[in-house]
Amino acid sequence: MLRFIISNAFLKIYKYSWSFNVGEYRREATRSYNSYEFFSPDNTEAMEIHINDLIILIPPITWTSQYQMNLGCVQVFDATNTTPERRQVILSFAKDNGYKVFFVESICDDPEIIAENIKQVKLTSPDYTDCDKEEALVDFLKRIECYQQTYVPLDDHTDRNLSYIKIFNVGSRYLVNKVQDHIQSRTVYYLMNIHVTPRSIYLCRHGESELNLVGRIGGDSGLSHRGTKFASALGDYMRSQNISDLKVWTSHMKRTIQTAEFLGVQYEQWKALNEIDAGVCEEMTYEEIQEHFPEEFALRDQDKYRYRYPKGESYEDLVHRLEPVIMELERQENVLVICHQAVMRCLLAYFLNKNDDELPYLKCPLHTVLKLTPIAYGCKVQSVFLHIEAVNTHRDRPENVDVDRDPEEALETVPDHM
Ligand code: G3H
Repeated sequence: MLRFIISNAFLKIYKYSWSFNVGEYRREATRSYNSYEFFSPDNTEAMEIHINDLIILIPPITWTSQYQMNLGCVQVFDATNTTPERRQVILSFAKDNGYKVFFVESICDDPEIIAENIKQVKLTSPDYTDCDKEEALVDFLKRIECYQQTYVPLDDHTDRNLSYIKIFNVGSRYLVNKVQDHIQSRTVYYLMNIHVTPRSIYLCRHGESELNLVGRIGGDSGLSHRGTKFASALGDYMRSQNISDLKVWTSHMKRTIQTAEFLGVQYEQWKALNEIDAGVCEEMTYEEIQEHFPEEFALRDQDKYRYRYPKGESYEDLVHRLEPVIMELERQENVLVICHQAVMRCLLAYFLNKNDDELPYLKCPLHTVLKLTPIAYGCKVQSVFLHIEAVNTHRDRPENVDVDRDPEEALETVPDHM
């Protein structure tokens, strides 16, 4: 599971990164997995489709095309590179293609962790579709034995010139060697902060605010009557979750703090969680923005992620502002984050791996809690509406995004009662 999380984590922290899972290519090449014997060092048939060949053949095609497009930055090569020979193949490839290599070795000898990992991750793997769970478990344990026959861990002495981190038993100890640059140092920092302890992250917006009621964006107003009712319902809901170690985070804005007050527990205020700064458009309605800044309004619709309000922020800025919050969320266990529409979209996009085009249009309605529970291949999302009515603040992208469009076209997706 740690390997999957690491691989996925890179995709999330490095904007231009790709991950190659050798298992997927192996399945393509072999069509069907029969048993652990495929991984036996004595399997000559498997040697013909040996993963080493795949390492040599596949990456250059995909990696270089992305590299040439100037998008390549971090590539994750996700495989069990358990022998010096395989690592040498990677090093040679990297040398020929101008990459620096950083190895991540996850070493686990705790039988309980191994059994849990097999249960959580491997039994749902495509290798074991339609396979009895017990048989799959036995097969996978034998597969580990096959790996053990050839596994040579990175060596403190002979590999002293390589850059790597060794993670022991999913983070109980680390060994870091020869960190070469900023990316590697961030990688180490990130890997030392993630964990696999089961937990949930609860995301919600503040209760409906006075400015929400009149369709104005931004500002720092207090809660409406219904917003206060939501705050109270949120308190009941969180108590029903029975979490003794729950952390509660808010922004510095009145509406999130007033919402948290109803929980009756301590909370921490983060300025980084403040709503997107709409600059000259703060406290305006969408109609007023169209009236006073029609061109700006259209430019935002053309590229909502990158568009920066004059004297304000873009979603892209917000994603950068939220990086320390995200890192701390990775470190923590159960957390309730009471935030704002744009902020919630960014956090949600991070956990659900949504791209830049999807992010600014993710639906994060008022008075609804999203409970995110990390699982083996992503995050389970449960949406809980707390049955307190609220205005709809979600405006979809309109059909026509030209700067010379009619005002009606620009406003066609503004929700009715805003
Ligand atoms: O401006 C504040 C809103 O909460 C963000 O909404 O980005 O969809 O306009 P918007």
